[in-house]
Amino acid sequence: MIVLGIDTSCDDTCVAVLEVRGSRFDVRSNIVSSQIKVHKKYGGVFPTLAKREHKKNLPIVFKKAIKEAKIKENQIDLISVTAGPGLEPCLWVGVNFSKDLARKLNVPIVPVNHIEAHILINFLLLPPSNFLLPAICLVVSGGHTQLILMEEIGKYKLIGETRDDAAGECFDKVARLLGLGYPGGPAIERFSKLDVRSSKLEVKLPRPMIKQKNYDFSFAGLKTAVLYDFLKRPEKIRKSKEYKILVAKEVQQAVIDVLISKTIRAAKEFSAKSIILGGGVSANEELRHQFKSNLEHPTSNIKLLIPPKELCTDNGLMVAVTGYFNKEKATKDFDKIVAEANLRI
Ligand code: KG4
Ligand code: ZN
Repeated sequence: MIVLGIDTSCDDTCVAVLEVRGSRFDVRSNIVSSQIKVHKKYGGVFPTLAKREHKKNLPIVFKKAIKEAKIKENQIDLISVTAGPGLEPCLWVGVNFSKDLARKLNVPIVPVNHIEAHILINFLLLPPSNFLLPAICLVVSGGHTQLILMEEIGKYKLIGETRDDAAGECFDKVARLLGLGYPGGPAIERFSKLDVRSSKLEVKLPRPMIKQKNYDFSFAGLKTAVLYDFLKRPEKIRKSKEYKILVAKEVQQAVIDVLISKTIRAAKEFSAKSIILGGGVSANEELRHQFKSNLEHPTSNIKLLIPPKELCTDNGLMVAVTGYFNKEKATKDFDKIVAEANLRI
């Protein structure tokens, strides 16, 4: 069976072709066309601009994905497309493109939840016997920071989420304040790796909500704490590379401390057999490393699943995999498929 996966939920235009034989997944193509260049000069994503870019790029990315997969359009059996959550004008581009294609090819569509897709990409290379459930899933991206209890595929319970900014959004805003570039997460990561051992400066930031018993997060306060620290420094310090490195290291560590503490606590409380990460922020090497070292403890029996870095950020493959797992929801009643900016898991 050939499954097409499409995601246009934010600023990447993504199309993938996945072949499924028995329970084996064969990735035929996975094309991501980034809009970074377009949004870079604004330091963030503009929905109307992103929509225009998706409209322009999607037919091209689709053709490229088909070509690279070495298939003909009419070999597609199922189309899976992100219906939400995401930027509504952008989501509609993918949804409408999918409907036109599905009508032309006379195949059904599965509308996919983007958050579920960030989780299920972890099952791409895993035989079903190795799905260790229940799992605690941490989805950390530019739009979301959620902790989800997964009992089985399709059965999820949201146990906590950010009350304001997402972790990735915090990185993006801090990077913009410091002039590190866009997208902020990779820029913060790059700076945090630089050395300032002999520095006399010190930057200390809070770990918001780390002590609270619930599983919610709040990263707007962390961003504001960076702003206050920034404003109290003389201009010469603010502009120094040394200061930027110290802030990058500390903001990254503050986010990591809160994410690891709450996720591991949730995993213990819900007797999870595994912790599953997903979303752009889980590409962060320090986060991956510290999660691993926290769970490698000999007494820990919680397995950690993290996608390869390039599959942490948005891609079409995660949508194809999720569409396949949800294939019983496939429909040809296309009028019922709508983009939902705030779709919940
Ligand atoms: O999942 P994603 O591609 O799109 C959304 O669904 O939002 O995540 C994008 C977010 C951005 O905020 C970006 O700054 C962050 O993920 N990000 C990172 C890294 N790579 C991307 N954050 C920290 N470290 C990274 N290496
Ligand atoms: Zn995403």
